[in-house]
Amino acid sequence: MFEEIKSQVAQQIDLFCLANNLPTGKVEFRDIPFSGEWGMAAPLFPLAAADPNKTGAVPQHAQYLAERLKDIIGLPEGFTRTEALRGYLNLYFDTGLYAASVIDQINDRGKDFGSAASTGKTVMVEYSNPNTHKPLHVGHLRNVILGGSVCSILEASGKNVIRANYIGDIGLHVIKWMCNYEMYHAGEQPAEDKMRWMADLYSEADRRFHEQEGFEESVREYFARWDAGEEQIHDLWLQTRQWSMEGFNQVYGLLGEHFDRIYFESDVEESGKELVDQLIKSGMAIDGRPENPVIVDLDAIVGTKEEYRVAVILRSDGTSLYATKELPLAIMKFEEYDLDQSIYVIDVRQSLHMKQMQKMLELMGYSWASRMKHLAYEIVNLPGNVIMSSRDGTVVLLDDLVREATQRALEVVREKNPELDPTIMQDVAQKVALGAIKYPMISRENTKIVTFDWDTALDFNGQSAPYIQYANVRANSILRRAGDLGEAESKFSYPLEASEINLIELLSKLPDEISKAARDFRPSTLAAYAYELAKAFNDFYNQCQVLKAEGDIRASRLALVRATRSCLEKTLNLLGIQAPQVM
Ligand code: ARG
Repeated sequence: MFEEIKSQVAQQIDLFCLANNLPTGKVEFRDIPFSGEWGMAAPLFPLAAADPNKTGAVPQHAQYLAERLKDIIGLPEGFTRTEALRGYLNLYFDTGLYAASVIDQINDRGKDFGSAASTGKTVMVEYSNPNTHKPLHVGHLRNVILGGSVCSILEASGKNVIRANYIGDIGLHVIKWMCNYEMYHAGEQPAEDKMRWMADLYSEADRRFHEQEGFEESVREYFARWDAGEEQIHDLWLQTRQWSMEGFNQVYGLLGEHFDRIYFESDVEESGKELVDQLIKSGMAIDGRPENPVIVDLDAIVGTKEEYRVAVILRSDGTSLYATKELPLAIMKFEEYDLDQSIYVIDVRQSLHMKQMQKMLELMGYSWASRMKHLAYEIVNLPGNVIMSSRDGTVVLLDDLVREATQRALEVVREKNPELDPTIMQDVAQKVALGAIKYPMISRENTKIVTFDWDTALDFNGQSAPYIQYANVRANSILRRAGDLGEAESKFSYPLEASEINLIELLSKLPDEISKAARDFRPSTLAAYAYELAKAFNDFYNQCQVLKAEGDIRASRLALVRATRSCLEKTLNLLGIQAPQVM
């Protein structure tokens, strides 16, 4: 309803301008920072400045125009007062009507509230990027969670998102694994837990490589056979790579992640070498072989000092490097899709590498290079009570961590609600556990180090996922006990408590919060918002009666609880966290 009222006011202002020989379109309303009541304000300085009949200074004239407009507008329906103050025209909404319009809108749109209409723009987000034949371990966690959340937030902001995963499927680590397999495990099939099995064989191979006499030699020979293109090795590689992918998919399934496009490093190795040849021919790259590698002296080309430095793009023995493959990968992405942006979720330590690649592509004439973006993030510290690697030095796999989290969550949930059905309790514990692991990874600013510890992650009273999930469960249980809500009309026709006004104000901000998080690629702001919302709801819950209230108070507050549940669930989901119905 406020859109209508706003456009009526705008019309009156336009008429005033036309009648007084003033340009239209110079008066724009914005929200007045909330202070117990809602309102909107229009600065009249632009209009004053454009008035050919102005006498005196702009601020005084703006105040004069504000006063005239105030008289003309009067008190439109839905407002409680208007004022002309220091060159601004301020209009204050009727609190009850405003509250009802916010809450109705949320409840009408449900899970859609806060999402923007499609922009028609496509964004690719590359994240996770593990290496096959190695495990996904806790060190990979922040990347997957951050990347997944950024994708969901971008989608909610109206972007068409392509989730890409760039998998390292070639290199010494793969050869080491396969050589060890052929020598000591030939013919073996992976165990049920593929990831664990692959990881165990990887650490065995790695140990042999460093400790066992002659094994490094065997690996080198194996590498030569691989390079020569031996078919049997190629087949084994395809088979074992597939096992790895199945292991990854188990973990992605657990975390609720999926990918639309998988790129393998092996897909871009040959094209990368061809590209290097072209760069040498064009004079951009310097070929130092056989003694030295192929390099691009970016600082010399761009004319900068110690900014882009020297990019090494091919080894002296002609084998490919990380950078060799980066260039064709970027090209492939833009050739395949009409990308508005191409985002790379990669560790902050690779900033120089990404900066070099982007500059090189720009120098090669790809105008889309400016649309590449490195979304850098910092590492996770696991001090104190979180074990990084198990007794024998093998890394803690993601599902080990989830298992431990679930065990811990189960204890807390059991304590809170011992009557819960055991199967439901297990399910709830897993949602709480995953939330507890994910929230700390995204609630920190991307470029700050995360310190993960169990007590904070599972603190039901602190800034944590369980705290937010619990607020949602509370809202859910109120609604359940209220029974069928029907279409009870909520008018908010009573003096609202400060805690309800505060909650409504926060709810109304969800669309802005989503678009802000999307614009800055910062789920952390949305994570903070989710916490604020849960806190505001708990304050409301402690201060206002809902089920025991009557008439419009009850109906309005139930509508408010319903809107809160919907926004809490939506926000949690955008962070990759599920909202259990009971706890
Ligand atoms: N697989 C690489 C690693 O484990 C990360 C790849 C990052 N993505 C990229 N386009 N360079 O270090």
